[in-house]
Amino acid sequence: MAKIEIKVNGKARKADVDPRLLLVHYLRENLNLTGTNVGCDTSQCGACTVMIDGQAVKSCTVLAVQADGSDVTTIEGLAQDGKMHPIQQAFWDNHGLQCGYCTSGMILTSVEILKHNPHPSEAEVRHGLEGNVCRCTGYHNIVKSVLAAADAMGGK
Ligand code: FES
Ligand code: FES
Repeated sequence: MAKIEIKVNGKARKADVDPRLLLVHYLRENLNLTGTNVGCDTSQCGACTVMIDGQAVKSCTVLAVQADGSDVTTIEGLAQDGKMHPIQQAFWDNHGLQCGYCTSGMILTSVEILKHNPHPSEAEVRHGLEGNVCRCTGYHNIVKSVLAAADAMGGK
């Protein structure tokens, strides 16, 4: 077993974990943060995306021990003071989902897209979301949601 301490959604969490444990399983099974989903076993779908030290990362590609000492944000930590993050709000307003399975990953990847490019074109949003698979939608409303969020955030 290995000792880890990860700050998850602003709270320090200590644990003894199997060195083989993936971060996605640590989040879901040890911390019950089930907004982070597993959608494939090939690192392709992005349903497991979380932010590690401010960067969107597929948590099925990271061991929990590799995240030791880092700051992790999951979809459960994105809302602040009971208010949805503007990207969450934009997905809500623009119906950027159907079943919702991919949504947490889409939203966290969108945080990363808008951090680096606050005013993306539609093509840039589509390119940025290439690592995230949605099995339900034609992506149209997802892209619309990210563009609406960019407008709402005004470059912040
Ligand atoms: S579960 Fe991580 S990319 Fe699909
Ligand atoms: S909304 Fe169902 S997988 Fe994307």
